[in-house]
Amino acid sequence: MSQITTQSSVEPKVKPKYEAFDFRKYQPFAFAPQLTDRTWPNNTIKKAPIWASVDLRDGNQALIDPMTIEQKMQFFKLLVEVGFKEIEIGFPSAAQVEYDFARKLIEENHIPDDVTIQVLVQAREHLIERTFEALKGVRRAVVHVYNSTSRVQRDKVYGKSKDEIKQIAISGAKMLNDYAAKHPETQWVFQYSPESFSQTETDFAIEVCDAVIEEWKPQNGREVIINLPATVESSMPNIFADQVEYFCRHLKQRSDVIISLHTHNDRGTAIAAAELGMLAGADRIEGTLLGNGERTGNMDIMVMAMNLFSKGVDPELDFSDMSKIVNIVSECNNLPVHPRHPYVGELVFTAFSGSHQDAIKKSLDFNEKNHEMTQNIWDVAYLPIDPAHIGRSYQDVVRINSQSGKGGVAYILQRNYGFNLPRWMQIDFSRVVQQKAEDAARELKNEEILDAFETTYLQNSGYELLDHSVNNKGGEVEFKGQITLNGETIDISGKGNGPLSSFIDGVARHTGMKLHIINYSEHAISPEFTYNDDDDAQSDKTNAKAAAYIQLNVDGEIYSGIGTHTSTVSAMLKGALSALSQAF
Ligand code: KIV
Ligand code: ZN
Repeated sequence: MSQITTQSSVEPKVKPKYEAFDFRKYQPFAFAPQLTDRTWPNNTIKKAPIWASVDLRDGNQALIDPMTIEQKMQFFKLLVEVGFKEIEIGFPSAAQVEYDFARKLIEENHIPDDVTIQVLVQAREHLIERTFEALKGVRRAVVHVYNSTSRVQRDKVYGKSKDEIKQIAISGAKMLNDYAAKHPETQWVFQYSPESFSQTETDFAIEVCDAVIEEWKPQNGREVIINLPATVESSMPNIFADQVEYFCRHLKQRSDVIISLHTHNDRGTAIAAAELGMLAGADRIEGTLLGNGERTGNMDIMVMAMNLFSKGVDPELDFSDMSKIVNIVSECNNLPVHPRHPYVGELVFTAFSGSHQDAIKKSLDFNEKNHEMTQNIWDVAYLPIDPAHIGRSYQDVVRINSQSGKGGVAYILQRNYGFNLPRWMQIDFSRVVQQKAEDAARELKNEEILDAFETTYLQNSGYELLDHSVNNKGGEVEFKGQITLNGETIDISGKGNGPLSSFIDGVARHTGMKLHIINYSEHAISPEFTYNDDDDAQSDKTNAKAAAYIQLNVDGEIYSGIGTHTSTVSAMLKGALSALSQAF
């Protein structure tokens, strides 16, 4: 029986500011090894680790309603599809359903040749016996044995000395040798976890693992995995990395074993701990998809894999059909996905803020125009990856509310409806949209934005271009035609150096107003967009082919308008009419 060894060498602390919120109950982290010559900060991750999913075991143990066999099977198949080669399928000695699932996988041949199943068991004989029974006939399997080595568990849970705890690990290791020998038809891989490794004195964890390895003798061909759990995450990830580096440097047979990490997310840094742990020498990472697991969850393998992907490292897992993956995982776990969950949340590719939207639009436009220069390398402000890589559409990227700006609104019109607004037009229309969003006090849907666009610029009820002709006589252009203004049909004739200026001249003559063209821009609407200019008699209700944007000074005030038509000239004249309609 050991003595309780709480450490309280910490200086007395000042009284807490908030009486009931007493930080003096907690102590600084006590298990950081002395490592002054750490090397991990200079490393980078250049290759994916060996991934091991523990969704069906650790994840399952943390569910309100553990998965049924059918759900486990569906999840298993998903994990295989995503590309996992090592899958912890459960704890067969802990529950009948766990045992039955192992039997089903084996007896019905559900395990692909390149996939190894893994099972967890405590270092206790009757449980180990049952575990090997559950695995009878399997081609290859990892038997994962564990016991807790942490100070708090030694002292308060088991009341055992360090040596007694080490003996539990050694006897578990021996039992695995014995039972594996009884089933030589299976390729056995042994895995040992000093549970709560990160809350164990690192030297003691090394001593225990050395002893286990000594039993298993990996140098003679036995595949051995030493798994280091941050069972409860209780330090910053740099300290966990120190623990891993120290462990790897001092383990006697480091080169004969695979070092695996199993981090939990109590401080919210499980992924960082796993990443830094890899820098510190780990080869293998255990975790779950979307991070389900005890308390705050296990390390989220999807996020860590996508982190590698987004830095140009092959994650060796396939997340291209992310919505299918998310649906199956959240259905089986019966847990919702947070809208801000990295990479998969509904809102993670969405910018509402005007400046973000503007930057995204500019980056995407730049890349589209400069394929050669950018060599198709993804480098877009505010978007760490191309949403299309995980099956997300560009619709997600920009959404409009009252925080949004001209860039976002322009993005929606461009990507969804083929309108490429010049900057001055963007400014004009974004005011309209902002007002509408403020009035609605909610996000505006794309259709509502198009509706506002049409109502403001394209449906000039009462202002119509009727029959007209434009003739070029030796460089001077003459406009003759009819328009309706305020419901009244009027004849217009004017002269200028182009169709637009001759039309404006005609309107100015007729109305007596002072009119100047300030800005003009036009473009073809790409055939992929089927914007239907219903208002357009001459287009015979076919799709508009051209869009023209016009900004006029009308008696000192600025008005902007838009016209669409199959003919560029008509689009231009309609654009002018649209601007004028706002002045009248
Ligand atoms: O978190 C943990 O320590 C575990 C072990 C059983 C590996 O899940
Ligand atoms: Zn765990």
